[in-house]
Amino acid sequence: MTAAGRTTPPTARRADVRSRLRSTGPVVIRPADGDDLEGVVAVGRAAWRETHATLYSPELIELFLDKWWTAGANAPAIRSGRTIVADRDGEIVGMASYGVTDGRFVVWKVYVHPDAQCSGIGGRLLEAVEERAAGHDAVYLTFTDGNTRAESFARTRGFVHDGREQQNGLPDVLWMRRGLGEAAPEVSATDVSATDVPATDVPSATEDGDDRP
Ligand SMILES: CC(C)(COP(=O)(O)OP(=O)(O)OC[C@H]1O[C@@H](n2cnc3c(N)ncnc32)[C@H](O)[C@@H]1OP(=O)(O)O)[C@@H](O)C(=O)NCCC(=O)NCCS
Repeated sequence: MTAAGRTTPPTARRADVRSRLRSTGPVVIRPADGDDLEGVVAVGRAAWRETHATLYSPELIELFLDKWWTAGANAPAIRSGRTIVADRDGEIVGMASYGVTDGRFVVWKVYVHPDAQCSGIGGRLLEAVEERAAGHDAVYLTFTDGNTRAESFARTRGFVHDGREQQNGLPDVLWMRRGLGEAAPEVSATDVSATDVPATDVPSATEDGDDRP
């Protein structure tokens, strides 16, 4: 039972326990489908927990995992075609999701399994999302203040500070922005074989709601 009085769903708990990756082959970046739901949740829970361990109390981490990293919380963005996955030998090693909120094209999530980070997967996921931002003048990215890896990742890719939101005594939420008229900076080569499925069926720029973190 968590601080919120809710029980972590068994599927998500199993996915948390299975924290080591089995796959080693080339990574394919492609739109998610319904069969990816468990893998998306597993990657998000592993990466979210590790990333926020020094930013939130253990109780709050469980609360946020139960709020944002469940099958129910991630199914709508998969169903509506707003989730991209990194698939290595059939195992989901990274995910990104996006949507249009208040007229802004927002990358709500970019999460790579801790065992698969720093090999170019996050960069490829972000590029795949940006391909889907046609018609928008900028892409926005949001993360918790103190998440230095996310900030460095964003700055290296041309994002600049755009604003911050206070959260009742918790660390602020930072917003960064990259204008799409501006060329994306070159980022160093990766050791991951690149197979990226291009954007063919881009969801229309309607309002999708808030889908953080
Ligand atoms: C931020 C995050 C998505 C980056 O994913 P990643 O797969 O590690 O990203 P990349 O490998 O493309 O790039 C990460 C770094 O690895 C380096 N790198 C990339 N390929 C490399 C390689 N082959 N060898 C060594 N380093 C490499 C890059 O230079 C890059 O450094 P930089 O970000 O300071 O520019 C990942 O750390 C993560 O999931 N964090 C937790 C979730 C989070 O905070 N998400 C952001 C907010 S939504």
